[in-house]
Amino acid sequence: MPLLSKVVVMAPATTANLGPGFDVFGMALEYPYDKVTITKADDGIKIEVYGTAKEGIPTDPSKNTAGVVAEHILKEFSLKVGLVIKIEKGVRPGIGLGSSAASAAAVAFGLNHMFDLKLSYEQLVRFSAKGEIASAGFEHADNVSAAIYGDFVIIKSYNPFEIIHLKAPPSLGVCVAVPKLPALPKKTEKARAVLPKMVSMDKLTYNVGHAASMAVGFATGNIKLIGNAMSDAVVEPARAFMIPGYNNVKDMALKAGAYGVAISGAGPSMIAVIDENSSAPSKVLKAMEEGFKAAGVSAEVFYTKPGKGVTLLEAE
Ligand code: HSE
Repeated sequence: MPLLSKVVVMAPATTANLGPGFDVFGMALEYPYDKVTITKADDGIKIEVYGTAKEGIPTDPSKNTAGVVAEHILKEFSLKVGLVIKIEKGVRPGIGLGSSAASAAAVAFGLNHMFDLKLSYEQLVRFSAKGEIASAGFEHADNVSAAIYGDFVIIKSYNPFEIIHLKAPPSLGVCVAVPKLPALPKKTEKARAVLPKMVSMDKLTYNVGHAASMAVGFATGNIKLIGNAMSDAVVEPARAFMIPGYNNVKDMALKAGAYGVAISGAGPSMIAVIDENSSAPSKVLKAMEEGFKAAGVSAEVFYTKPGKGVTLLEAE
């Protein structure tokens, strides 16, 4: 039986891949975020969705990422209780900012507290990743790992999960541009279907070099190196056609002072990394907006920073 009858959890938006780290790199963002309240009920799982980003979020627990995670945990620990999961959705779905991962991570983390399950962070990632099947058709864990740990993560291994967690440099800033494109149902699944099945050795060498450099960039707090390493020879070239303005946004953000630009997760949002000490966020945001505009697409832009992982806000 639960030790707590209610928990309230914050779970952040996340950006995945950061260029060369497909399914391996993730970073939590300070803004936006989901707030999830889990309350004990008599039986069954009920999902309620509120908030500015609630559009398009299913409330059927078997289709909702939070519901899928809750079902897995209740089953694995033979917990015979019902739950009401209220999701105040801040992370819009379908834009590449880890919307499904935020709710999934919040539920895994929240239930761990509620039932005192003593799950390790790796186990929380394993449960949260189950939720990604509901939205992406595959248990990719880059977004959920970043949502659980916060800051920057490297998934060293999927089986078993081994995750390396690194703090982001304090002056690292993230400019985000979200193009206004027609909603693409099952977007991540589709964006994965266009990827090559085989990769040539020269592309492998390119990506290993850049990914290793990015890890060193985070380990040493070198924002210029992090940005320069944000380049991918495999996944972005295959997905670029899905993002009108991709090349413009990249070129213009780099010219405006960004150190690196990448597709955020499966897109279509793009992120640009800056050092606050040497570049103005507003200049880079404007360049990204104009980059999309030159391709005939309007975009919402905002500035954020690397942020903390899931956090318990209330418990009773
Ligand atoms: N690594 C995943 C992908 C992230 O690029 O498909 C999806 O958010």
